[in-house]
Order: sequence, then structure tokens, then C-alpha cells
Amino acid sequence: PPMTIAYDLKASVRTIPDYPKPGILFRDITTLLGDARSFRCAIDELVQPWAGSKIDKVAGIEARGFIIGGAIAHQVSSGFVPIRKKGKLPHTTVSMSYALEYGSDIIEMHVDAIKPGERVILVDDLIATGGTAEGAIKLLRQTGAEIVAACFIIDLPELGGAAKIRDMGVPVRALMEFEGH
Ligand code: PRP
Ligand code: MG
Repeated sequence: PPMTIAYDLKASVRTIPDYPKPGILFRDITTLLGDARSFRCAIDELVQPWAGSKIDKVAGIEARGFIIGGAIAHQVSSGFVPIRKKGKLPHTTVSMSYALEYGSDIIEMHVDAIKPGERVILVDDLIATGGTAEGAIKLLRQTGAEIVAACFIIDLPELGGAAKIRDMGVPVRALMEFEGH
């Protein structure tokens, strides 16, 4: 369950109706990121379980996962690894197909970005169906990474993604939940 925090972080997320399609309530985190206190509060709360423990890498999923993941990596004094859409990374990559609402896409990571046994936190802004995070976990496991947890600002629990990721043996941490799509 989402933690109770004194500061109302959820109020800093803006909801845009009918974006990008009619019937979708888009949870816009730019308002959270743009507010100094909200951004710091979100990062501090996300990393709290790993105070004093060694994290080797934070892996962030393009594009909003770069923003959150970069801040988390700095906070836990780890390296940062970008997981990108196909064709964006210059060196040799490993890749993984993942399920979207309609169809599929491919994410990639540099082949030497993570060494076997390194302790990694996976980060994205939001988990919905979990297709993106599932693909990223499979990609990370190819490298022999130990995935400590997957972290998100927002979980949409009705879409089942967090449960799916926990079933893969990866603890899920999210700061807030929203009902519906
Ligand atoms: C959004 C969000 C997550 C993903 C979650 O990204 O940023 O990455 O969807 O959905 P899922 O749990 O159902 O996979 P999106 O695919 O819209 O791409 P973007 O981040 O590049 O905008
Ligand atoms: Mg995304």
C-alpha cells in the first residue's frame, strides 16, 4: 500500500482529461517536477528503504524515468544506466521486446552497462499494465543484474502492473496510486 506522508505529494500531480485519447485521464508529473519541494520530497521518499545500503546502478526508462532515475542515482551515490527506445544508443546493445496496449516496442541498453551481480534499482515515472517494466526487468536480468526493486512515482493498480512485477520476484515501490486508467 502507498505510504502515508505528511506532505501531500499526490496533490502536485496534475490530471489532464482526454489526453492523449478520449476517456484517458493523463497523470501529468511535470507539475510535481516543477515544484522544488515536491520534487525533493518524491526523491527522498523513494530512496528511503535503501539508506545505508549499497546500490551499484540505477536504471531509468526513457524518457521520464531518466529524470526520476538520475535524481535517485545521485541521492544513493550510484551510477545511472539509460534504458532507451530502439536505435538511440551508440555502443553495442542488448534489446528486449515489450508489450504495449496495442502491439509491441523494443527497449535497449548498452551491453556493458551493468556487470553480473550488480545491485540495480529500476525507475520509471508510472506503472500501468507493467509491460514496459517487465521488458526492462528481462533486459536487466540478461546482464546478470540483481534487481533490488522497481520504483515509480505513480501506480495504477487496476491495470495490474505492480502485481505482475511482484510476481517476477521484484519488489515494487510507488509513492501514490490513482484509480482508473
Ligand atoms: C508510459 C510511462 C511508462 C509506461 C507505463 O510511457 O512513462 O513508461 O507508459 O505503462 P505500462 O506499465 O503499461 O507499460 P509511454 O509508453 O507513454 O512512453 P514515454 O515514456 O516515452 O512517453
Ligand atoms: Mg514511459
